[in-house]
Amino acid sequence: MLSRKSIWFMAMAVFASAVMAVACGGEKKEEGVTPGALKGDLEIFSWWTTGGEAAGLQAMYDLYPKTCSPDVKIINATVAGGAGFNARQVLTTRMLGGDPPGSFQVHMGHELTDTWVTTGYMEPLDALFAQENWTNIFPKGVLDIVSYEGKPYSVPVNIHRANVLWYNKKVFTDNNLKPPTTFAEFFTVADALKAKGITPLAPGDNGIWASTQVMETVLIGSLGPDAYKGLWTGKTDWKSAEVTKALETFQRMLTYVNSDHSSLSWDQANDLVIKGQAAMSIMGDWLHADNVAKKFENSGWMPSPGTAGVYDALSDTFGLPKKAPNPEAVKCWLKLVGSKAGQEAFNPKKGSICARTDCDASLFDTYLQSSMQDWKKDTIVPSLAHGAAASQGWVEEINDATTAFVTDRNVSAFQGRLSQACVNAKVCKTTATR
Ligand code: GAL
Repeated sequence: MLSRKSIWFMAMAVFASAVMAVACGGEKKEEGVTPGALKGDLEIFSWWTTGGEAAGLQAMYDLYPKTCSPDVKIINATVAGGAGFNARQVLTTRMLGGDPPGSFQVHMGHELTDTWVTTGYMEPLDALFAQENWTNIFPKGVLDIVSYEGKPYSVPVNIHRANVLWYNKKVFTDNNLKPPTTFAEFFTVADALKAKGITPLAPGDNGIWASTQVMETVLIGSLGPDAYKGLWTGKTDWKSAEVTKALETFQRMLTYVNSDHSSLSWDQANDLVIKGQAAMSIMGDWLHADNVAKKFENSGWMPSPGTAGVYDALSDTFGLPKKAPNPEAVKCWLKLVGSKAGQEAFNPKKGSICARTDCDASLFDTYLQSSMQDWKKDTIVPSLAHGAAASQGWVEEINDATTAFVTDRNVSAFQGRLSQACVNAKVCKTTATR
């Protein structure tokens, strides 16, 4: 029998090709709302508090009265902190305490399935998917990933890309530099910037996930997509010389970062790039939405070093927890989240592309249109820091190891912990000894 992990990776592969293959259109017509049929409160739980995040969420809220009911009061329950670093703890307490929100933001993949579905906390959504004809609208790969034992358990609203290098164009032009495509170029450019007193790379890891994410992009860029995927199935040896080399590259990159990185959030760190005090950031494309919200137009982008042709993917989804208050109002929220109108309102503001295959590309700006193209042709790999590649417990163990590493920079100790984490996750069989 296939493990859930191998199913996930197979699904990701199908996912990429299915984007092209799935026919457009065919969505069932809105049946219209009976005003007043739905009433009461509807609590939506997320960590979307920054400019582009909040704007995207609000765009969907704005559609709710017309699409569902003007008599439902939406409660925007947010817990600030990128990647859900703080929100997940609050959510866990509430879910385990029998006090779920109406619906909550959760990443497609292991974060959803291992944490909430296999443990029996979510309602299956097969009836809703059938009613909305979503089995023909979402790529098959996406449907597979949100499904468990043949039933879908959450509605994907977007696709984000994690392996993007964002840079301040003016800083590069003023200093006669080209944005780096390889690690060797990165270090050459970084030395030149450092000599000019400009911080080369600006992470904001007051939530350690931001550095874990930089590491994941270095693993992809250094190992290549297949060996990177193998890290999550036990096929790639965490103790190998190739992983050592990747971690040494990450270690070297950390010598070019802002000294206050651990006190800044990802969007505060982006301000350093916007102001030209720093030159580059390796971050997901929610940063694009932050730039748009902050009206910063001098931003350039490219795949992070060594990752051209690879799309490090994640998706935000919403589901229906068992015991959710006001489940009919929640179901209408889910209907909106999965709808063409909902995704076309949300994604251009959020810096992501639609999970659906039929959104109107002309509603999206140049960056997002380029992302849509890449999504269709690139090799898809699952993001570690954003719940796609590994279970929550495994991600947390890696985050803890990364916290130690950004301070002690001890590659050998780091590699040992990463290797042990794979064993602890019951994916790698051998005991980690280096
Ligand atoms: C990711 C999430 C994105 C974005 C980002 C920063 O985990 O999927 O939608 O919000 O965190 O908060």
